[in-house]
Amino acid sequence: MEPTAGHVLVVDDEPVLCELVKQELVAQGFDCRVATDSRRVRSLLDATPRAFDVLIVDVCMPHLSGLELLAHAKSHMPECKVILISGNSRREFVAQALLLGAYDYVEKPFDAGELVEIVRRARGEENGGSGLYDRAAEAMTLSAQARHASLDSVSALVRAVEAKDPYTRRHSEQVAHYAVNIAKAMGLSGRRLESVRVAALLHDIGKIGVPDRILTKAGPLTSDEFQFIRHHPALGSDILSNITLFGGEASLVRHHHERWDGQGYPDGLAGEDIPFISRIIQVADCIDAMLMERIYKKSYSVGKMLAELIRCSGTQFDPKVASVSIQWCRANREKLILPGKIATAEILSA
Ligand SMILES: [Fe+2]
Ligand SMILES: [Fe+2]
Repeated sequence: MEPTAGHVLVVDDEPVLCELVKQELVAQGFDCRVATDSRRVRSLLDATPRAFDVLIVDVCMPHLSGLELLAHAKSHMPECKVILISGNSRREFVAQALLLGAYDYVEKPFDAGELVEIVRRARGEENGGSGLYDRAAEAMTLSAQARHASLDSVSALVRAVEAKDPYTRRHSEQVAHYAVNIAKAMGLSGRRLESVRVAALLHDIGKIGVPDRILTKAGPLTSDEFQFIRHHPALGSDILSNITLFGGEASLVRHHHERWDGQGYPDGLAGEDIPFISRIIQVADCIDAMLMERIYKKSYSVGKMLAELIRCSGTQFDPKVASVSIQWCRANREKLILPGKIATAEILSA
């Protein structure tokens, strides 16, 4: 009798698993073939491109990986639905499988009945509506929410450090404001822009390790005290590299006191060896430091601050970042936060 449910090929180097899945599919009215040697599958698909409606493919196989087979199948028979069997549900894997056109995946160990349900769903649907899309979207939403919630907690730590010194209160928030605006003016968007905001908000988190008496000292620092200050970018980077959600920002924080001419710290990187986002944060950091009053200096006027950006372009600052920053400051004077001016939500929302 001609089966009506659909034609399925199961590819896995474990014969027992293949047989189990085959039995379940045949019991549910599917026509099912199995293949345990991935090398033969490619030629089988090329010779009979319309023979299968659904492929079930193990990701980890000798000779040809499931992802390679998926890519081959989707380029030669795009209408065929491919379901991956994998022991790996990491986000990067799901994203890669999705990009290559997988319909869905099941994690090992799995229930054969659950797999048959996915095959039935794949047969019942036209293009789109894949469970993998839903799972990837869900994973990305959850990860964005977790990052948001963690950012709130970690930023609270930064605010606690800044609160020790009334002159640096709201410094990180204001640096983030300038950095995001400069980054936008330089054409950054999406995830990179988000990274600018996070790294700027957390750039001074390493000051947690600097004693209060040094952070709030009015007079000049001794060289020992200055060593403590110089350590804060590396300490900040170490802290963030231990928080999975902000691991990507760790090196951006590490390099926010490097200089274009290589005379900065902690690594003395120069020019384009300094991460681009760190170069933006460095300029934003200096704009805020110059415009605000500090315990050891008066605030600069906007004109003096702009003159400093020009003077230090190409030595301290990346000339392109400095030039865009100067243009942005000139065109957006109402968005500069000056002493005594309340940085309202309207100003800070870039
Ligand atoms: Fe800093
Ligand atoms: Fe700073």
